Amino acid sequence: MNAELQKRAAAAKALDFVRPGMRLGLGTGSTARHFVELLGERVRNGLDVIGVPTSEATRDDAQQWGIPLATLDELPELDVTVDGADEIAPDLTLIKGGGGALLREKIVAAASARMIVIADESKCVPVLGRFPLPVEIAPFGAGATLRAVRTAIDGLQTAGPLDFRKRRDGHAFVTDGGHWIVDAALGRIEDPAALARALAGVPGVMEHGLFIGLAAMVIVGGPDGVRTIERR
Ligand code: A5P
Repeated sequence: MNAELQKRAAAAKALDFVRPGMRLGLGTGSTARHFVELLGERVRNGLDVIGVPTSEATRDDAQQWGIPLATLDELPELDVTVDGADEIAPDLTLIKGGGGALLREKIVAAASARMIVIADESKCVPVLGRFPLPVEIAPFGAGATLRAVRTAIDGLQTAGPLDFRKRRDGHAFVTDGGHWIVDAALGRIEDPAALARALAGVPGVMEHGLFIGLAAMVIVGGPDGVRTIERR
């Protein structure tokens, strides 16, 4: 099974946890997109659910598949959020934000009774950090915030380059919330909880891509099929 089939298999398994009447957080990214499409098929066949998208891209996809949608203001408590991840540690701590939707993804996951992560096998790592950590910052004073982010990281561990994310055309990548992303090359995150606290304390940081204690279950599509891991 190639990675795309592994993602789709994980997304299909996540449907087992969807019940009629549920309020669902809909994640962002290529794996979540499989879930939205498969959920759309169920909705067409009569499944009654309502979704809260974590990005404008997911909103467009969900609308295309005919999934009824609401905002988080209309539905502030959700039953289950299904989302992808960039890296998954053995304790189900995640790095997210490769698609730039981390702020809304974290708000939606935190408003959900349960977050289910769907991923292909390549996302499971023994230690987080090979994937650069996305840090969403306000454009105002971005240079000063970048320096403060570096100082916060340096207080804990060695950092590699911190780069403003760019679009393919060279312009700044702008999130749905109008913010910028700094991708922090860390190599290995020694203490995710300490790093999360340090980053959250920097003025100008809107959110960071460490998701700690949010994922209740991970569904991993691998070459030999799908396995589920529950948080202990
Ligand atoms: C979006 O901002 C991210 O958090 C995605 O959930 C994450 O990057 C996983 O994306 P893929 O499913 O495309 O790998």
